[in-house]
Amino acid sequence: MSPLLEARGVTRTLPGPVPVTLVRGIDLAIGRGEFVAVTGPSGSGKSSLLYLLGLLDRPTEGHVLIDGEDTARLSAGALARLRRQRLGFVFQFHFLLPEFTSLENVLLPMRRLGGEEAALRARAEALLERLGLADAMAKLPEELSGGMRQRVAVARALANDPALVLADEPTGNLDSRNAASMFDLFETLVAEHGRSIVVVTHDPALAARARRQVRLVDGRIVEDTGAVAA
Ligand SMILES: Nc1ncnc2c1ncn2[C@@H]1O[C@H](COP(=O)(O)OP(=O)(O)OP(=O)(O)O)[C@@H](O)[C@H]1O
Ligand SMILES: [Mg+2]
Repeated sequence: MSPLLEARGVTRTLPGPVPVTLVRGIDLAIGRGEFVAVTGPSGSGKSSLLYLLGLLDRPTEGHVLIDGEDTARLSAGALARLRRQRLGFVFQFHFLLPEFTSLENVLLPMRRLGGEEAALRARAEALLERLGLADAMAKLPEELSGGMRQRVAVARALANDPALVLADEPTGNLDSRNAASMFDLFETLVAEHGRSIVVVTHDPALAARARRQVRLVDGRIVEDTGAVAA
C-alpha cells in the first residue's frame, strides 16, 4: 500500500537575484497512524516543509504524493479539494474567525464540502464534545482561554475527518500544562482514531512524545528515527 503522504526529493527555492532555498532533497514518507515530530533550529525550514507536505506550496524540484498520487499533475482547484478532504492544519496562532462561535468555526470547513446542515451541525457538536469543548461550543474565540482556543482550532482541523493533521508549533503560545494536554489529544487521535500527525515543535520534551522524530538543519533532514507504521 502506498504511504499516506510522501515527499520525494523535494526542494523549494524562492527565485530572485539571490535565490533562497527553503528545503532541499527531502525524502519523507508518512504512514497511516504515524505521530511524527519535526524539530530543528529557527530558519531550518520546518514551516516550509509543512507547507509543501500540506499542498499549500509546490516544490521547485521533486514530488509530493498523496496515496501514491503525484500532486504535481493536479490543478490548483483539485489541490484545494484534496487538501480539504484529506488534510487538517493547526498553526501557532489559532486563526479562528473572531465573530463566529466555536461551533460555527468548526462548521465552516464542513460546509465547504457540502452536506445537509443538520447532519453537519450534529457532527460538529459531537466533535467538539469529544475534544472536551461542550462548554465552549456557543462561545466566541475571545471568550475562551488560550488552551481552549487551540483545542477549537484542532477541532476545526478535524472537521472533515482528515487522514493527516499538520501542525506548526500549535503549542507555541500555550503554557506547559496546556501544551501537554494538546499532545495528549494528538496521542488519542493517533491511537484511537488512526490518524497521522506531523507536528513541528521547539520543545524537546514534547517532541519526545512522538513515536518518530525528524530533525531539520539548513533545509535538510539530518535525522529521522524512522517509520513505525505502514
Ligand atoms: N518568503 C520568504 N522570503 C525569503 N526567505 C524566506 C521566506 N520564507 C522563509 N524564508 C527563509 O527560509 C528559511 C526557512 O524558513 P522556515 O520558516 O521554513 O523555517 P522554520 O524552521 O519554520 O523557522 P522557525 O522555527 O523560526 O519557525 C529561513 O532561512 C527563512 O528566513
Ligand atoms: Mg516555522
